Amino acid sequence: MTVTNWVVTASGLISLFIHIDAGFITYEDARRAVIQAEDALLTGGRLHLNDKEERANEIFMRYKFDELAAGFYDSDVNAAGLHFFKGKPLIDKSNVLKFLKRMPKGANLHMHNSASVSSDWMVRNISYMPGLLRCTNKEGISILSFRRTPREHGCVTQYVLVNEERFRSISPAVYDRSFEKLINLYTPKPDSDYPTIKHVWRKFQNMFSTTGDLLSYIPAFRAYTRRMLEEMYEDNLMYAEVRMSFKELYDYSGRLFPPDRTVSELLVIVEDFRREYPKFWASKRFTQHIAMLNGRVCFSSLKHSNNCKHCIFSIANPDFIIGFDLVGQEDLGKPLHNFVSELADLPKSAKYFFHAGETNWYGASTDFNLLDALLLNTTRIGHGYALMKHPVLWNAVKKRNVAIEVSPISNQVLGLVADLRNHPGSFYMSQNLPMVICNDDPGFWGSKGLSYDFYYAIMSLAPNNAGLKTLKSLVWNSLRYSVLSKQEERVAFEKLENAWDEFISDVLKGKVF
Ligand SMILES: *[C@@H]1O[C@H](CO)[C@@H](O)[C@H](O)[C@H]1NC(C)=O
Ligand SMILES: *[C@@H]1O[C@H](CO)[C@@H](O)[C@H](O)[C@H]1NC(C)=O
Ligand SMILES: [Zn+2]
Repeated sequence: MTVTNWVVTASGLISLFIHIDAGFITYEDARRAVIQAEDALLTGGRLHLNDKEERANEIFMRYKFDELAAGFYDSDVNAAGLHFFKGKPLIDKSNVLKFLKRMPKGANLHMHNSASVSSDWMVRNISYMPGLLRCTNKEGISILSFRRTPREHGCVTQYVLVNEERFRSISPAVYDRSFEKLINLYTPKPDSDYPTIKHVWRKFQNMFSTTGDLLSYIPAFRAYTRRMLEEMYEDNLMYAEVRMSFKELYDYSGRLFPPDRTVSELLVIVEDFRREYPKFWASKRFTQHIAMLNGRVCFSSLKHSNNCKHCIFSIANPDFIIGFDLVGQEDLGKPLHNFVSELADLPKSAKYFFHAGETNWYGASTDFNLLDALLLNTTRIGHGYALMKHPVLWNAVKKRNVAIEVSPISNQVLGLVADLRNHPGSFYMSQNLPMVICNDDPGFWGSKGLSYDFYYAIMSLAPNNAGLKTLKSLVWNSLRYSVLSKQEERVAFEKLENAWDEFISDVLKGKVF
């Protein structure tokens, strides 16, 4: 008697036990049926791989099992269970990472532009730009700026030129290392340097204060934004929807430019980049606008908010803002519930991409942000870390197909979970809830692109036997849950499929390992 596909629900399992008791099926058959049923429920579980993909998967799984086995016998080398700061040197040597870096990953749907670029590039490039000044404010935080008549910033020291400071230091290399520490949370001892969430969030927020003003300097804004695109491109991403606030820009003479200028600058940078790297979303200009909210509405709304507001722009159509979000440490900000009436004043076309449930507090007012985000018809949920604890909400997420933007490294580094094998993303995957893998603020913790987050997704969140089917499903989700129009999506999938086939062939030809 065949029992395959019997057990898809808890009640199915009960009937199976009755059948065992009655002697209709053997214990071993029942056991196999349960495992098969769970495998089918998993993200990508029902995906069909072609012959070439099957062979590429075998290669991938050999490396994955090798790494899992090494970690199983010696937890010191189990990168999947370690803090990113400790695991990164191991991951950098990993064949799984090599595979993931080379794999087309589609879109990155949750990243903040001001924390997107790697700190080593910031040191190499921005810190050497003529005119960069540094001062210290009364909290002891370094503030960086290019304004010749620096604004207040609460500085208690004189502004000094970074290039002069470097020149007077013991050695440029020593200076550069200490400069990098201003903009990267890395420490070899995360547990003792950041004993609680308070410590790591304080430093994290301070880093936004350190770099905020320098990124409004037009030449720095241009170089930085271009680098943001480059780092995604180099990691085989083709598209992104980026959260950013649109601030005033300034130039060397101190002239100020209104936030619209940020939008027009973006347009030029993205266009230039696409012309140079046609593989990165080399779309034609679309007439159908995916963005409904223009920038001005976005930043003048919610003026009573003490959370900062972020607008989200799409790299396919950077001249339009596609929606917005509230950001900040959720537990300390005002809950979303307070904004319901203000949000109701926005045009019906406004799309929301709320951070919600980035908390360990079950039943606290910020935990209810998930509820409000869903009642407000959010398009996607940023993090959704607490969602597992709310059965009505995750059922709604499933039914309404609202994607959860899972950012594993962010949740770990920012103190929600120590071992990513305990991340609720496992629960979302176990039943194929709509989800995408994102990187949030990679530049602030020494990550780059999306491959490191994908490493944890497949090594820590997914079960041991999950391979290419799960990966492919996550990649495809990234376009499916983007706000690309149907027409844009079709073009994007075409490009993705071509890149994917080429990747699979390269794996089989031995070009990846
Ligand atoms: C900084 O980056 C920009 C943009 O990529 C580039 O044009 C410039 O040459 C870089 N400068 C340095 C010093 O590397
Ligand atoms: C959310 O969407 C549902 C169904 O599309 C609709 O009935 C409801 O009015 C919407 N709610 C808000 C707050 O826009
Ligand atoms: Zn975020």
